[in-house]
Amino acid sequence: METFSTLMGKQTLLPIIQADTIEQGLAIGKAMVAADIHLVEVVLRTEASIDIIKVLKKELPALKVGAGTVIDAGILNQALDAKSDFIITPTLSTSLLTQLANCPVPVLPGVSNAADILLARDFGYCQLKLFPASLSGGVAFLSAMSAVFRDITFCPTGGITQSNQQEYLDLANVFAVGGTWVAKPDWIKMGQWSKVTAACKAAQSVD
Ligand code: 3PG
Repeated sequence: METFSTLMGKQTLLPIIQADTIEQGLAIGKAMVAADIHLVEVVLRTEASIDIIKVLKKELPALKVGAGTVIDAGILNQALDAKSDFIITPTLSTSLLTQLANCPVPVLPGVSNAADILLARDFGYCQLKLFPASLSGGVAFLSAMSAVFRDITFCPTGGITQSNQQEYLDLANVFAVGGTWVAKPDWIKMGQWSKVTAACKAAQSVD
């Protein structure tokens, strides 16, 4: 099966969509596509999230749309029913990894310490999300992990901003960075979609 980083291709920004309504979710998706984004994560943290995945898949068919915040089989099934192109978890457990073992789309499991990394690796994962990156040791932690887990690469999220993303991307074991800084809640509230496009463009122009 394709890996998560293969799906990402050259895109090193994993833009996260968190919105309260379908209309907002679609507007954010369109604003991201206007910045040449071809893959987004919708975090399943609002009532509208699953419907946002469905509408993005329908209205923007070229966009790869994944589901984040997957923490159990029920949520996983909803995400797969919505035709999510990939699955991201914020953390992991043996039972969650067992449920993900037959997942038909790429999975990016979330880790926050060395024990999590080893558990994910035991289940065959070599690409992981570090979450919440800034609270889990950030760049220094990832740098230390590169010596121990030489076959693991990361997409850190949580506390990444325009001003610190390059420090992460400069690490050899980081293939992408993700976050909500490119679609800030205030902009969403005010319908300032051009700011989303501009932030996505700025984020991609620094790597
Ligand atoms: C995630 O789900 O990865 C985080 O909520 C993103 O964190 P951020 O809001 O600090 O970017």
